[in-house]
Amino acid sequence: MTDDQEYRAVEGDVVHDGYIVAIREIEDVVLDPENRVEVVEVVERCPTGALRYEWKSGGRQEKAAVPSVIRVSENGPLYIRGDVSIESGVDDESLRENRVALCRCGRSKDKPFCDNSHVSAEFVDGGRIAGEPAVRDEQAPHALSLKPIPNGPVLVRGRYVLEEADGTRIEGEGGALCRCGHSASKPFCDGAHKQVGFSTEPGSDEADPQVGGGR
Ligand code: FES
Repeated sequence: MTDDQEYRAVEGDVVHDGYIVAIREIEDVVLDPENRVEVVEVVERCPTGALRYEWKSGGRQEKAAVPSVIRVSENGPLYIRGDVSIESGVDDESLRENRVALCRCGRSKDKPFCDNSHVSAEFVDGGRIAGEPAVRDEQAPHALSLKPIPNGPVLVRGRYVLEEADGTRIEGEGGALCRCGHSASKPFCDGAHKQVGFSTEPGSDEADPQVGGGR
């Protein structure tokens, strides 16, 4: 029994109950190499980043996906994989994540992250991409920098692959991602947040009477 055989799970908010329970059951258990691989694969499949792992020995850690991928889900959030930094809006602080789910229905109480409010809000969107995102700078880094704008979209810097719900992929770079749920150019912002009075203030999610309208 060695330290590097010991697996420790670190979880955030419970989004995928089944996975979290499974991980808790093996916490601090010594795993044979075959099982370790299986557990890591399960954890890395978690699209929201709610499941994470770290080796106590400081061994192999999860690698960020290259290129970064922004997946537009049907009736749900934007799932992003890659080397992602998210400005917290407090001083110069930012979060660094490999996997994250961003709210795009406008109703999350944990903006800019998804908290599954799209289900109760009955958010409707086909997970398609309106228009063609341009790649203006072929040298732009694949690491993504996200900046949530108060009462507006999430600005993204960096290059990425944009994936529709049916798996169709196109390359993109930069842009503003809608998070109010009302853009006619989803997943991008078209300015509709101003007309609908979208607010990112805590508690403002209750005030938005209509969400959706996607194709
Ligand atoms: S944030 Fe939705 S249209 Fe701008």
